[in-house]
Amino acid sequence: MSEVNEITEPKTAVDITAVEFPKHIDIDLSNKCNLRCRFCHLSFLEPEKWQQLSYDQFLEIAPVLEKVESISLFSKYEPLTCRDFIPIFDKVCEYDVETYFSTNGILLNDDIINALVGRLTYLTVSVTGFTRESYAKNMSQDRLETVRENLAKLNAAKKAANTIYPKLRITFVGMLDTLDELCRSLDFAAEFEASEGVRMTYFRSYGEGMSEYMPLNEPETVAAAIDEATAYAQRLGISFESIGGTIDEIESDVDKALGHRRCNLPWKTLSLQPNGDVYPCAVAYTTVGNFFENTFDEIWGGEKLAAFRDGVNDPDKLNEDCRQCSHCRYGSVLDPVANDFSTAGRYFGGMKRKQSN
Ligand SMILES: C[S@@+](CC[C@H](N)C(=O)[O-])C[C@H]1O[C@@H](n2cnc3c(N)ncnc32)[C@H](O)[C@@H]1O
Ligand code: SF4
Ligand code: SF4
Repeated sequence: MSEVNEITEPKTAVDITAVEFPKHIDIDLSNKCNLRCRFCHLSFLEPEKWQQLSYDQFLEIAPVLEKVESISLFSKYEPLTCRDFIPIFDKVCEYDVETYFSTNGILLNDDIINALVGRLTYLTVSVTGFTRESYAKNMSQDRLETVRENLAKLNAAKKAANTIYPKLRITFVGMLDTLDELCRSLDFAAEFEASEGVRMTYFRSYGEGMSEYMPLNEPETVAAAIDEATAYAQRLGISFESIGGTIDEIESDVDKALGHRRCNLPWKTLSLQPNGDVYPCAVAYTTVGNFFENTFDEIWGGEKLAAFRDGVNDPDKLNEDCRQCSHCRYGSVLDPVANDFSTAGRYFGGMKRKQSN
């Protein structure tokens, strides 16, 4: 056991002990998207090569499903752009694992809905903008009506099958110029019977002209919007969370020497890309192996991951990845280093700035 594993501090209550095999994996089945939301990294950065996993390639990781407890079928891109999404999902359903993914909801067609109903555990649909105009402005296409129709179809299919699965959540990106619609996200969640309510992510900036909308510029405005949404959610009987907590909660937990909350992800999880690259978490820049070339046992017990773990919670050995941690649950919301990537030439998961930006 490394010395990092022995750190226990009641304040953070993070269990930093490597489990025998990852409990959770996330995997991008495709690194493409049908949208270019104005806030998203994909509007400014791109992966080295556009790729998607085929069903046969996915079989490489199928044995892992015997051991993990849960799998997220997305990480940074749009999972429904994967051509083999349905056969891959059918394969995952052969195992006893909790399943989850987040989508913009536009590609949720009848075949996909039929595959998901009664089988997928959690589904998040990302919607930032609840009028035709604001949706088109934020999400890059005039498709709010398509999302509404698809959610209605999903709910009808759930009712017909008499199931609560997939449990639905709506995600909203909290920017200084979107917060005026935060309460409307709760109305939307109520309308579409989202049992998991609404989750707001704090906006991080990836490009020119976007940094002025970061919460760190006006934390009081953001805190007031969260308070208002929390009260409104209570009145509606809907769950609402700003991811990671309120700004005060997050910042009081951030270890000043590390710049992030104490983190145990690389001791419990792995994050996979469609080119086979494996990362210690979804927001890391450093690869710890490739699942087309290495076994998961080699990666999990390997030197690269061990070295990365040493630099997660130790200020003297801090990984550059962790210094600028942009994870929604571990990173700071007020530190510009963890929120403003508007001039960064590269970003996590092997992304590089587009030449045109
Ligand atoms: C990158 S997307 C990938 C999955 C899928 N395409 C979707 O939109 O749900 C994952 C989540 O990140 C959120 N997101 C995108 N850009 C963001 C940003 N700059 N700051 C905070 N959250 C962001 C999206 O709204 C979405 O809920
Ligand atoms: S739908 Fe998701 S991945 Fe696609 S551009 Fe929007 S936030 Fe990014
Ligand atoms: S980058 Fe952030 S989430 Fe990833 S291991 Fe480091 S501290 Fe944890």
